[in-house]
Amino acid sequence: MLCVARSTPWICRSCATKAARSPNSSSKRLQSTNALHFYQNRQLELYASKEAKRLTLRQLVFFGRSMNEERLIQSANYVRTELPVRIAHRIRDLQTLPYVVVTQEGVAKVYELYWSAFEKAPVLTPSRTSRFRRYPEIKTMEDNQAFCTFLSSILEEHAAVIPSLSLGLSLSSPYLPPDELDSFMRRMLVSRISRRVLAEHQIALTNHVAGRRALPREGNVGIIDTGLNVSESIQKSVKFLRERPFDLEDEQVEAQDPDKAWPEVVVEGHLNTRFSYIREHLEYIVFELLKNSMRATGLQHLGKPVLPPILATIAASTDEIGIRISDQGGGLVIPYIKSPSDLFSFSHIRNAARMDTSRIGALRTVSSSKQGMKATVTEQMQWWKRRQRDSAPNLRVDTPAVAEDIETEAGVAPHPRIGIGLPMSNIFATYFGGSLELVSLDGWGTDVYVRLPKLGTNLEGIEL
Ligand code: COI
Repeated sequence: MLCVARSTPWICRSCATKAARSPNSSSKRLQSTNALHFYQNRQLELYASKEAKRLTLRQLVFFGRSMNEERLIQSANYVRTELPVRIAHRIRDLQTLPYVVVTQEGVAKVYELYWSAFEKAPVLTPSRTSRFRRYPEIKTMEDNQAFCTFLSSILEEHAAVIPSLSLGLSLSSPYLPPDELDSFMRRMLVSRISRRVLAEHQIALTNHVAGRRALPREGNVGIIDTGLNVSESIQKSVKFLRERPFDLEDEQVEAQDPDKAWPEVVVEGHLNTRFSYIREHLEYIVFELLKNSMRATGLQHLGKPVLPPILATIAASTDEIGIRISDQGGGLVIPYIKSPSDLFSFSHIRNAARMDTSRIGALRTVSSSKQGMKATVTEQMQWWKRRQRDSAPNLRVDTPAVAEDIETEAGVAPHPRIGIGLPMSNIFATYFGGSLELVSLDGWGTDVYVRLPKLGTNLEGIEL
């Protein structure tokens, strides 16, 4: 795809504007609402001009460790005032995109969701007319409880933001230079993680203080596991992947003897390593990496009686945790990829698979499903158990909630192959200052190095 005016492989802003003047019917409908929002910007400017008050993991742990009602209310008020600032930054970011991009299916949906969150009225307090950005000060435990219910409803409403953005940006890829597209996507994704961390942490702290939920493990502070066992998290993902190979999804491999189709994973190194981290972030990363390695190895050694094992090595140094996942799956020999880091890109110029029609179709399905994507390994496990019950002949659906889940999620696997796992793992790894690096030994295998800071002293990697 070439821009006629400037001979670039993406379309320049002036051509993009012309394209936006002859929109398709769905974008026409959205234009009127979006145009309205563009003129409601005074409040937005006010919030977008404030700097985000970034936190470190250590601050989250120290503040949450000796929790009492007063501190819980203090932290609720921090979340109440911080979230609209972080959302405003991203709405502003969306507004600086060429019009043809912000009106794309997916991007337009996220834009609407963010506006609605910024302006949203609290669900449980209809008598109050305030918006999220003017949510009244939280003074009592009851106020905090109402705020947590409000946060939960937004978390749920935003479940499909990542596939929607990914869909929208894939469709917009011809209109944005790759660097611009990737840095925009990075800002959106990191900021989203940061907002969900604040909201989920507040909800978890509230549940602990109210004694509603026993601590899942001793030492948990909100959503942070202060003694997270790295080897246990790896083993959990391995067990899960071996039990449900449909997630690896390959017909040729599935035709094999199930016990021999997928490789073993040997976990070695500093097996007793524990550190303070958000369990769901670590498990997302190792699950995705192991899934890729198992699939590549199964395909590369199809039909062989014994498959070369995958090595998962854990190394703990004074200030970081290293995890290397090493497979013999043939390496990253992908014709359209010049460098392994292009796999993190959302631009079709760096990663041609972004405009693949089957991937776009899968993204459409996931982004329009009520549940969005199952973001965590735990959520996926719950989904899988329900799915098993669903397919069992004597299925007994115990509660209406379960019945509803099965119905709404039908046909949407928690992690279909939509190309989000690797870029998201990279974002999760870098959120608190870590890294993820792919090294391909073409024709042999791939090593992935994940490094996560151990001391929790890095600020969140969001842009101000
Ligand atoms: C998101 O999930 O994208 C959010 O912004 C959620 C947050 C406002 C609680």
